[in-house]
Amino acid sequence: MEKKEIKITVARYTDLTELAEADLQLIEAAREMAKKAYAPYSGFKVGAALRLANGTIVGGSNQENASSPVGSCAERTALFWAGANFPDTAPLSIAVTAIDQSGVHAACLSPCGLCRQSLLEAEMRFKQPIRVLLDTREHVDVLDDVKSLVPLSFDGNSLISG
Ligand code: THU
Repeated sequence: MEKKEIKITVARYTDLTELAEADLQLIEAAREMAKKAYAPYSGFKVGAALRLANGTIVGGSNQENASSPVGSCAERTALFWAGANFPDTAPLSIAVTAIDQSGVHAACLSPCGLCRQSLLEAEMRFKQPIRVLLDTREHVDVLDDVKSLVPLSFDGNSLISG
């Protein structure tokens, strides 16, 4: 038996002025999107904003449904809109933020498994790392790629029989 350690690196910004202007702009876009979420059941409003390789910023918010599995997270709303409207353009970064039940900027947030898998597909499809910016009450966490969020991932390579 051999144990393997998988490490990820997260850059934590408690002072947001240390972030690049483009990243601050993306976070601001995600915050605006969160205000537009349709989340009557959870009261947890999430906003996501993707910066594409052509400079376009595409946003999304969570869209809930009385039949809960039918709803979509903010990340996938944004990602699929980008895929539908800019099918040949790679996403370079995604910012995600949330407003909790009391209307306050949420203390912690990280994409769910479905969103991680969806983002991983885009990252692999375009062979281009997607930076992930997680905007929470106390800080912004930045990861250099989605792969970091999906260790031991299942992806298209798994389907190629060898
Ligand atoms: N949600 C997102 O939109 N993104 C995440 O990363 C986590 C969860 C949504 C789904 C649901 O509408 C609400 O937050 C509560 O789970």
